Amino acid sequence: MNQLGFFKNPTQITYGIGATKQLRDILDREGFKNVLIITDAGIMKTGLIDQLTRQLDNINYGIFDDTKPNPTVTNCNDALKLLREVQADVVVVMGGGSSIDVAKAVCLLATNEGSIVGYEGIDTFANDLLPLVAIPTTAGTASEVTNFTVITDEERQYKLTVGGVRLAPKYALVDPAVTISLPAHITAATGLDALVHALESYTSKMANPISKALAREAIRKISANLRQAVFSGDNIVARDNMMMGSLLAGLAFNNTRLGNCHALSHPVSAIYGVPHGIANSILIPHVMEFNALAVPELFSDIAEDMGENLEGLTLMEKAYAAVEAVKKLSKDINIPTDFSQYKVDGSQIDRMTRDAMLSGNIAVNPRKTSYEDVVELYKKSIGGVFVEAL
Ligand SMILES: NC(=O)c1ccc[n+]([C@@H]2O[C@H](COP(=O)([O-])OP(=O)(O)OC[C@H]3O[C@@H](n4cnc5c(N)ncnc54)[C@H](O)[C@@H]3O)[C@@H](O)[C@H]2O)c1
Ligand SMILES: [Fe+2]
Repeated sequence: MNQLGFFKNPTQITYGIGATKQLRDILDREGFKNVLIITDAGIMKTGLIDQLTRQLDNINYGIFDDTKPNPTVTNCNDALKLLREVQADVVVVMGGGSSIDVAKAVCLLATNEGSIVGYEGIDTFANDLLPLVAIPTTAGTASEVTNFTVITDEERQYKLTVGGVRLAPKYALVDPAVTISLPAHITAATGLDALVHALESYTSKMANPISKALAREAIRKISANLRQAVFSGDNIVARDNMMMGSLLAGLAFNNTRLGNCHALSHPVSAIYGVPHGIANSILIPHVMEFNALAVPELFSDIAEDMGENLEGLTLMEKAYAAVEAVKKLSKDINIPTDFSQYKVDGSQIDRMTRDAMLSGNIAVNPRKTSYEDVVELYKKSIGGVFVEAL
């Protein structure tokens, strides 16, 4: 039976090859004259920003290109300074989730006083944001359509989340062609992040029929195309399916939140600098094994969507087939199976667990999760020689 549900998508999305070329139309239609472009150094090198600025004849613009992976409070402050110098009336971001998250924070700080650190939580700000046009260059976070920004407070080594419907970009120009330049290892990590979004959204306690339909289609598209996108990066069909898969997963999780995997991954990234997609990819099999017992019928659906042969299997066998399917995919695209190469040890487990328990994602995880459960999940994912906290 369908439960009572709700669904929101505040962003106007243009999807398809060449979508990026719509930027000038939007600026002219809205009458924007001063633009702050936000990106990072890696994307600058691809030539994508040069292509974008060719659309900006007679428009005043400045470029902030210092976004760091797991972007920081300092990034937000520096970009805000440039926004004021340019007197920007709109922000255009071209980049991965890190750049888009900085752009959202800057749009908030342009109209609300103080530091982004003061706005942790949902709907914590009074004034509407400066408008944002988001052009994603990874098929991963879907931050181009979500109501969240995730920023690392370097002082506390803590990833804080700010949320609210008004935080979503006004426009998203989603163009699969811009992901052709993504190197294989980043395609792999960001693509698995998108898969984790779909998996966690599908099994979230807040899932509803609309979000579930989007999440299942995302699981099908990503699991059938990620290998090709990694190993033949110029395969535009695979890139298209990955971008659409990421977008659908984003539309889904924007309405359901995520789950234990994202709750546990943020502290690992904040303390040890592990890239977001890698942290999720290492944690997800352990989190799935933990959750499969609570909602085996949903895990059975996931196994089916990932193309597993389920004939003659019991319900629990079908549920665990989903875990195996994710492990196989990770192995094929060379994702590490534990955190040993990132020098994560047991010394920070108490702190990581306390931070993870603060995440709103724990509350929507399909299986009730205690402090001790999170400690166990971290221990399983650390790998190598496990060093206990002193
Ligand atoms: N706001 C949200 O809803 C949300 C959701 C999930 C994750 N996130 C956040 O997003 C961040 C991760 O973003 P990400 O995984 O997209 O990675 P990213 O933005 O950090 O980019 C990773 C690397 O890929 C390079 N790159 C990106 N696009 C490229 C392209 N087309 N060609 C060549 N190089 C390219 C960048 O230069 C960078 O070095 C994390 O901080 C995470 O917490 C936010
Ligand atoms: Fe994510």
